[in-house]
Amino acid sequence: MSVTAVVGLQWGDEAKGKVVDLLSQQADIVARFNGGDNAGHTVVNPYGTFKVRLTPNGFSNPKTICVIGPGVVVNLATLVDEIAMIQRSGIDLSDRLWVSPRCNVVMPYHPMMEGIYEQAKGAASTGTTRRGMGPVYADKASYNGIQLSDLADESQFAEKLHVQLALKNPFFAAFGLPLMDFETVYREKLEQFSRVHNAVREPFGLIQEALAKGASIVLEGAQGALLDNNWGTYPFCTASITLAGGATAGLGVAPRWIGRVIGVTKAYTTRVGSGPMPTELKDEFGEILQKEGQEYGTVTGRARRCGWFDADLVRFTAQLNGATELALTKLDVLDTLPTIKICVGYHPDYNGERLWHYWEGDALWLEACRPVYIEMEGWRQSTKGVRDFDRLPRQAQAYVRKVEELVRVPASLVSVGPGRDETIQRA
Ligand code: GDP
Ligand code: IMO
Ligand code: MG
Repeated sequence: MSVTAVVGLQWGDEAKGKVVDLLSQQADIVARFNGGDNAGHTVVNPYGTFKVRLTPNGFSNPKTICVIGPGVVVNLATLVDEIAMIQRSGIDLSDRLWVSPRCNVVMPYHPMMEGIYEQAKGAASTGTTRRGMGPVYADKASYNGIQLSDLADESQFAEKLHVQLALKNPFFAAFGLPLMDFETVYREKLEQFSRVHNAVREPFGLIQEALAKGASIVLEGAQGALLDNNWGTYPFCTASITLAGGATAGLGVAPRWIGRVIGVTKAYTTRVGSGPMPTELKDEFGEILQKEGQEYGTVTGRARRCGWFDADLVRFTAQLNGATELALTKLDVLDTLPTIKICVGYHPDYNGERLWHYWEGDALWLEACRPVYIEMEGWRQSTKGVRDFDRLPRQAQAYVRKVEELVRVPASLVSVGPGRDETIQRA
């Protein structure tokens, strides 16, 4: 079986983009199945450095077909810009992009609604990327969404947009915000759609044919398991299913086809936005991780919160995804540290008797938990140039092995830099 899901095992930004770009060199199809332009996947390859939000990371290989499945919500403005950016860099994507007409469209009122929700929650806000993800998925779930196929039919689109603006405008008025003008939204969306409409075609048949032929398909997850709408730190999470299982519904690839699940995890932990993060460091070590790891959000530019690797969380998310292997990324960021800690479980403030685990509590409970650490010796030398596991410093090898032992999944790939080649492949 040659379907590989690549999913994040933490709170996103684990370097899924880099791993998918690496795999895309042998992939017939790379497909996104969840999220929208809240994602920001960075790749550094021979064509340059790219930060993509919607386009699947197979665009750099001229032989790879890029699919956006119905589980993805599409902001047309982002898609138009991204296609232009990729074409400008000399990569021809015109015949290789397939976007399902079933994708829901992010409308301009979705980020506005999200802004109102976030403001109302004040200090308890989720700290979203403000891309309208919560409202667009809510509209989808409550049968109020507008799909790309609606834009192909102008009168159908007009009818649906009238209804939605009649529902949304009183809400904006109640909060003293300007109302949305039908004509402006209608024209803008049709204009954007006209630029991508050639790519809007249902990829289901193409994927089924590829599966039957045993073609190589990479499923590119967005966000991470701890942001999943069911299993993440709700309500500090995202609106979609971020797990390997989400690919089945989000793309139409049945579970039996997915033979390989690569769980991507950093060698430490980061998080953007609000919500519990037991191993967060607010000291000089946190600053080192942020500086060495260049931990700033791709979409919003916000500084990412940094902390030690949390093996309890990653064991849980590896189980949740059925990870068959790990891609352990950004090991080089730990290069200068004298000692490195790993969280192995929690002591809640009300019971310190035994080690507790993430899945036993909710977000508030996790916030109050005290992480229990083991300590490892650092290696204090650069790993950036290393391409062979046996050439890593002894302490770095021990660190990777400890992660594998605690998470209970082997690391087939260890990443020591952003470049495609800055990778140790062990499989
Ligand atoms: P994604 O959302 O999971 O694709 O991850 P992002 O692209 O948002 O964030 C990962 C960041 O780390 C990007 O800027 C990558 O270029 C960079 N990166 C990836 N792998 C490595 C690595 O092994 N070491 C270092 N130092 N940077 C890396
Ligand atoms: P990639 O694919 C990191 C976070 C936001 C916020 C929460 C909800 O690059 O790993 P949303 O806009 O989705 O409603 O925000 O989820 N978030 C991400 N954090 N990486 C991402 O994507 C993220 N997508 C959303 O910061 O805390
Ligand atoms: Mg990212």
